[in-house]
Amino acid sequence: MRKQLFIDGTWVEASGYRPLFSPYNGEQIAEIGYAGAAEVELAIAAAERAKSVMAAMSAHQRASILEKLAALIRENKEACARLISLEAAKPITTARIEVERTIATYQFAAEEAKRIQGETIPMDAAPGGEGRVAYTIHQPLGVVAAITPFNFPMNLVAHKVGPAIAAGNTLVLKPAGQTPLSVLFLAELMQQSGLPAGALNVVTGSGSVIGDLLVTDKRIKAATFTGSPEVGITIRNKAGLKKVILELGSNSALIVDQGVDVDAMIARAVTGAFSYAGQVCISLQRIYVHDQLFDEFVHKFVKQTETLQLGDPLDEGTDVSALIGVRDAERAMQWISEAEQLGAIVATGNKREGNIVHPTVLLNVASSASVSCQEVFAPIVMINRVSSIEEAIRLVNDSKYGLQAGIYTENIRTALAAAEALEVGGVMINDIPTFRVDHMPYGGVKESGTGREGVKYAIRELTEMKLICFKK
Ligand code: SIN
Repeated sequence: MRKQLFIDGTWVEASGYRPLFSPYNGEQIAEIGYAGAAEVELAIAAAERAKSVMAAMSAHQRASILEKLAALIRENKEACARLISLEAAKPITTARIEVERTIATYQFAAEEAKRIQGETIPMDAAPGGEGRVAYTIHQPLGVVAAITPFNFPMNLVAHKVGPAIAAGNTLVLKPAGQTPLSVLFLAELMQQSGLPAGALNVVTGSGSVIGDLLVTDKRIKAATFTGSPEVGITIRNKAGLKKVILELGSNSALIVDQGVDVDAMIARAVTGAFSYAGQVCISLQRIYVHDQLFDEFVHKFVKQTETLQLGDPLDEGTDVSALIGVRDAERAMQWISEAEQLGAIVATGNKREGNIVHPTVLLNVASSASVSCQEVFAPIVMINRVSSIEEAIRLVNDSKYGLQAGIYTENIRTALAAAEALEVGGVMINDIPTFRVDHMPYGGVKESGTGREGVKYAIRELTEMKLICFKK
């Protein structure tokens, strides 16, 4: 499978090609185009030409393109899931859920395209404003650069493509190096959706080469990125006056209060920790359990963890498969042994077969250990004992990240206090931090990012508000 670049509505030769390997068994699965500066220029120029076509398109036309795309993905559901599973080593059952979410995200985008509304401004609220009628409109920005991660190669792409198209923008999209196939398949479906040529361009290849060209180009008006804080900060530093939307890392935490029903939450907590081998920005990484329930929680959590099936992502029974690369598997093992040296106890796991790291539960972890204070992005979770919710909140907030947090409690006052005090973009009461549906606002504080996704909120980021004021 030799994959070209998608530029100006057609397939274009790249200046180079490189093999793409399965993260699970190392077999070559495709040959991927590597765009050089000339092809990136073609893509930006095509997006720049198409921007007036997109800006002139009515809301119902943009909505119907997105509806058509959602329908095409639905018709090709299983093919989409298998592609995700193959290139990302995502268990096929989890990949199918991602495809369902992707359809929902494009449907939300189709709906939101029809309600991009401004507001009327009561101008006479200020002296001198009398005799004026004013309102705001939201106009497309023009060309948007989207740089997407490997962990949700369809749905996190949908979170950038859907809102950008809904708002009447054009895009140059650079998918993650390990997961270009899902995006190139999306481009094939886009060709059948009625989207004008040049409105979506896909350039695959080296992240630093393409990313740099996109982020520094003056024709591009916004850069939207999901990935590591290091890259996100570099993008912000290079982007000049562009809008920059960053969805970055996290070491998401859960607090378990005294008096809650442990049995009712265990399966959910284990899923939050180990789904897609922990390679999810809101993966459950830190758990702080009240002293009163600690032993029961640990016992049941470890027992449930040990039921998880490891193996080939394409096997129906697999819960946990390979990490995305060998260096990630090596790093995960190093971080476990660093935690042990700092006094942690391994309750289960701490084994590696190829790129599969066994789901690992660590107890009594020092807050200076990497598995606590860095983003793990691997199937490792820590459980520590706390003697009060105040202590737990302090520990959750003692982090450079702040994406989402969860708390299980039966006490409404505790829930409200935690909701206010937790320094994150979203608080889940009586659920894990790993909860997300695709229309809710999603994004973080601190080094977890800037701006919000969730279709309606991403559209706000990808439009410019303009004031129109009539003097009577
Ligand atoms: C992410 O990893 O940032 C996305 C999580 C999700 O959409 O469930």
